[in-house]
Amino acid sequence: MSMVDDARLDSQASDADVLLRVEGIKVHFPIKRGIFFDKTIGHVYAVDGVDLQIRRGETYGLVGESGCGKSTLGRAILNLEHPTEGHVRFDGVDIASLKGEDLRRKRQDLQMVFQDPLSSLDPRQSVESILVEGMKAHGIAKDAKEARPRLRELLQAVGLPIQALSKYPHEFSGGQRQRIGIARALSVNPKLIVADEPVSALDVSVQAQVINLLADLQEEFGLTYLVIAHDLAVVRHISDRIGVMYLGAIAEEAPAAELYETPLHPYTRALLSAVPIPDPVVEDTREQILLTGDLPSPSAPPAGCRFHTRCPWRQPTRCEDERPALRVVEIDGVTAEHKVACHWAEQIHSGELQPHAVEPVAVDPSALSGNVEPVAIDASPLGPDGRRTP
Ligand SMILES: Nc1ncnc2c1ncn2[C@@H]1O[C@H](COP(=O)(O)OP(=O)(O)OP(=O)(O)O)[C@@H](O)[C@H]1O
Ligand code: SF4
Ligand SMILES: [Mg+2]
Repeated sequence: MSMVDDARLDSQASDADVLLRVEGIKVHFPIKRGIFFDKTIGHVYAVDGVDLQIRRGETYGLVGESGCGKSTLGRAILNLEHPTEGHVRFDGVDIASLKGEDLRRKRQDLQMVFQDPLSSLDPRQSVESILVEGMKAHGIAKDAKEARPRLRELLQAVGLPIQALSKYPHEFSGGQRQRIGIARALSVNPKLIVADEPVSALDVSVQAQVINLLADLQEEFGLTYLVIAHDLAVVRHISDRIGVMYLGAIAEEAPAAELYETPLHPYTRALLSAVPIPDPVVEDTREQILLTGDLPSPSAPPAGCRFHTRCPWRQPTRCEDERPALRVVEIDGVTAEHKVACHWAEQIHSGELQPHAVEPVAVDPSALSGNVEPVAIDASPLGPDGRRTP
């Protein structure tokens, strides 16, 4: 076999390995003004150029501050938000190109678990009817009776008693409700589950139980996960790889352990320095980086590197006018799976560049949201399938 054939087979093998391929995704929301909101006066650049791949059976953790675009990216992946640019390929198929029956069938493969289980579960429906709804819609069972054996299995899998079927969401605790939300996602045999802040509404004491449950279910049902969180500590143990998002783009991506051991992006270093370590010696000597300044508005993202207004390593060249690409670096001990969007990652890692006090950088005030009232944001409630009800 020729070398060309070898290379082609290699790339086919890796293609078969990848369940989800996000290519150059942008989601820009128009900001409209005027009595009938007919004039577009700017955009919220919620997601602004994201590439990522998730392999079959993998858990990809996506972290970042509130408003950086995590949920919008998750919704774009599920085809609940129409991307301004870019493609989402699921199992090799561009999901934006699907219509009618094909789209309905593909939806079964992609399910979501929401942050707030109470508002995402219909309070007027019993657990049984919540779980049977999707199974009926996707032809897995034609009625509750036919669904019974599967319901038993599902409840057992998420650790709830069979009596739960006749109860209503308000009769459960937060952690139990999230188990119902997970059972609902599982009920249609999905391949990918996007879990958007699945534990942030729960007591700290039950967060670990729900995370462990997700991990167990992954093994049992061969699931692939995208887990979204604003806290690095939450995704640490469940994730194979982690992407750190800042203002609509991925700042750094790495295998989970490597990201914690060798964070390369100044933003990741700052995030990690804020996670407490339960060892007083380490706690006293470790790096503490305080980020000054607020997260800039996604309607007026800084030029060049988006992080330059808050970066303690900002340099006089490149940082303010050249947007860094997410790239592989040549640093000893750093694998090719570790990518970072910083012009100076090597010099920062070696210590050649040292952090300095951050002078606040002015952002173009005309582009800030203060000027753009009233803003038309679609705030209608999300239905159980994550779509907005008109
Ligand atoms: N439908 C919409 N119309 C206009 N702007 C929107 C819309 N949805 C989200 N945004 C804006 O896009 C940006 C990213 O929002 P998104 O909800 O994706 O962030 P997030 O990272 O999930 O934040 P959080 O951690 O608070 O959930 C925010 O500035 C938000 O206000
Ligand atoms: S490119 Fe410059 S501003 Fe951006 S993270 Fe690197 S050093 Fe900081
Ligand atoms: Mg969100």
